Amino acid sequence: MIPTALTVLLAALGVTGSPVEPRAADGLNTRAVAAGKQYFGSATDNPELSDTAYLAGLSNTADFGQITPGNSMKWDTIEPSRGTFSYTKGDVIADLAAKNGQLLRCHTLVWYNQLPSWVTNGGFDNSTLISILQNHITNEVTHYKGKCLHWDVVNEALNEDGTYRTNVFYTTIGPAYIPIAFAAAAAADPSAKLYYNDYNIEAAGSKSTAAQNIVKLVKAYGAKIDGVGMQAHLIVGSTGSESVSAWTANMNAFTALGVDVAITELDIRTTTPATAAAVTQQAKDYATVIGGCKAVTRCVGVTIWDYTDKYSWIPSTFSGQGAALPWDENLVKKTEVYNAILNAWGTGRHSTGTTPTATATATATKTTTTAAPATSSAASGTVPKWGQCGGNGWTGPTQCEAGSTCTKANDYYSQCL
Ligand SMILES: *[C@@H]1O[C@H](CO)[C@@H](O)[C@H](O)[C@H]1NC(C)=O
Repeated sequence: MIPTALTVLLAALGVTGSPVEPRAADGLNTRAVAAGKQYFGSATDNPELSDTAYLAGLSNTADFGQITPGNSMKWDTIEPSRGTFSYTKGDVIADLAAKNGQLLRCHTLVWYNQLPSWVTNGGFDNSTLISILQNHITNEVTHYKGKCLHWDVVNEALNEDGTYRTNVFYTTIGPAYIPIAFAAAAAADPSAKLYYNDYNIEAAGSKSTAAQNIVKLVKAYGAKIDGVGMQAHLIVGSTGSESVSAWTANMNAFTALGVDVAITELDIRTTTPATAAAVTQQAKDYATVIGGCKAVTRCVGVTIWDYTDKYSWIPSTFSGQGAALPWDENLVKKTEVYNAILNAWGTGRHSTGTTPTATATATATKTTTTAAPATSSAASGTVPKWGQCGGNGWTGPTQCEAGSTCTKANDYYSQCL
């Protein structure tokens, strides 16, 4: 191990000879990228974009290098009646990603839910429904051509026991609807990475195996599939795969088939109000998930299903549960959970000179000491060197620890340097 204090001193004095480079702002995304991933991102939705503090946080690319529209690219929004396409809402999210310089995961083309009744109850025969499916996909993927890093082509096609979920596509077309959808998407935008996306496939078991079989099915049909999205809507203390090694083993079963994996809708819910013990467990659980993705080269990134409890889907879907995200209902960062994700990615102090080791030590030490209070009292305390201390929408502490000064990087980010 390098003697870190000395190293920092030497670096500060310029003794190492390596130039002091401007540092990218530290955050969840910059750490993910430093760990070799493409992004750390968040889902979002159109109504909440009028919340300026929320929007500032979402647009902070130090934390979020990627966004996913929660609803506005789904079938009921895009093609509410046959042959009538409405891209206004989806375009808002795509334009925001472009404006912010964020990657876009496009979500989702074929899903049994949020599917208009003209499709579900149309009584179409096999060939007609295939043409409707192909027309929807061709139209939408062509509209967003060149803008989508990923497309979630088919979403949630499986039951918990690994059998195919009964829906109008399965009933009318059979399992072939899945490869037919992938083939149509690939033809419309050859450069978008095409994903199958589902929940409860994060751990080995019948459903994970069935999702692997979908990869094989699509390939057997001669169509392209690039990845599998693990939604990861998890529960504190019960995250499916309970260890980094269990996560990596399950992910490796997918990557062995020649596809990437991504964690696409991560949140970890608990009974509300969350106890200090639950928050501590949640921080560990987030770190386990991130650790799994970090360890698998073909895990390309992690997306949380919105970043704040203020706009989480959990409380309205699971009564008495929530507190699932790293920011609370007041957009205050939960220091313990946030730091757990940050540190699970690693130090983020890549490539230049010898300062990384010093940062690792400082960050890890600080996390250990701040972990104890276990609540989201982000506004108090001091910020460790390299940490965020200000910026639009920032509600955390602004006081830097001794030896560092809060320095503005841009409107969204000030850092203790
Ligand atoms: C519907 O047509 C497709 C394409 O010809 C075929 O692969 C599939 O098996 C058919 N489904 C049924 C239920 O006949």
